[in-house]
Amino acid sequence: MLGDSKVIVTNQTGIHEKLNEVVQKHLSHEFKKPFQQHTKQAFEEIDLVVQKFDGEIILDACCGVGQSTRLLAQQNPNALVIGIDKSAHRINRNIDEVIANDGVSKVDNYYLIRADLNDFYRLVLAAKWSVGRHYILYPNPWPKSKHLQRRWHGSAVFPQIIQIGQQIILRSNWLLYLEEFKQAVEIAGLSGEINAFTSEQPLTPFEAKYQASGQQCWQLTVNPLKAL
Ligand SMILES: C[S@@+](CC[C@H](N)C(=O)[O-])C[C@H]1O[C@@H](n2cnc3c(N)ncnc32)[C@H](O)[C@@H]1O
Repeated sequence: MLGDSKVIVTNQTGIHEKLNEVVQKHLSHEFKKPFQQHTKQAFEEIDLVVQKFDGEIILDACCGVGQSTRLLAQQNPNALVIGIDKSAHRINRNIDEVIANDGVSKVDNYYLIRADLNDFYRLVLAAKWSVGRHYILYPNPWPKSKHLQRRWHGSAVFPQIIQIGQQIILRSNWLLYLEEFKQAVEIAGLSGEINAFTSEQPLTPFEAKYQASGQQCWQLTVNPLKAL
């Protein structure tokens, strides 16, 4: 419910002590896990659209119900906005409930794709999509120390993530997540900036509920990206 979000609890006292080691390992080893068929197929379908499109592609990774995808499409009418989430439940909820309730007028320059980003990111990079902005809004925080490798900066696909887009915009209500991501991009030779922010029109349901609960939201901007 809006306004009753719990504050993140973690057993970490600061940046994870294994962050550097884990990031270095992933930067120096190719991620070779085979692609899941459903993500490969979803990618091939949207790739046909992307290859015909001549303009900015905006990625909305972990888009949940896709509210941010539609808002970004509305705010950027010349762009093609692609929201990706692995949860069929969330992506499909969009169709029934959210379109009617989130106040976004009809836009058609967006797609919502059900796919696992661990595979999808690698396919996007290999296909050389011309991504402008790459949003990752309120990813699952995985706040337990033992779950470092489930956070995007601790994942094997991190080297691909940071090569996608002219700019990555990552938001969370857990500052430590952004501090770790920032440190991870610095290990890869990039830089980023973290700011506290409040938005008058929240981009996502998670952003809306954190703000309604009085929690500070944070944004990390990484820019510009380069090939590693
Ligand atoms: C905390 S929710 C945030 C959703 C939305 N961005 C928002 O702010 O309302 C995180 C989302 O990330 C998605 N997600 C987590 N891991 C993923 C993966 N490997 N591939 C695709 N989506 C993933 C989850 O299904 C979930 O919808």
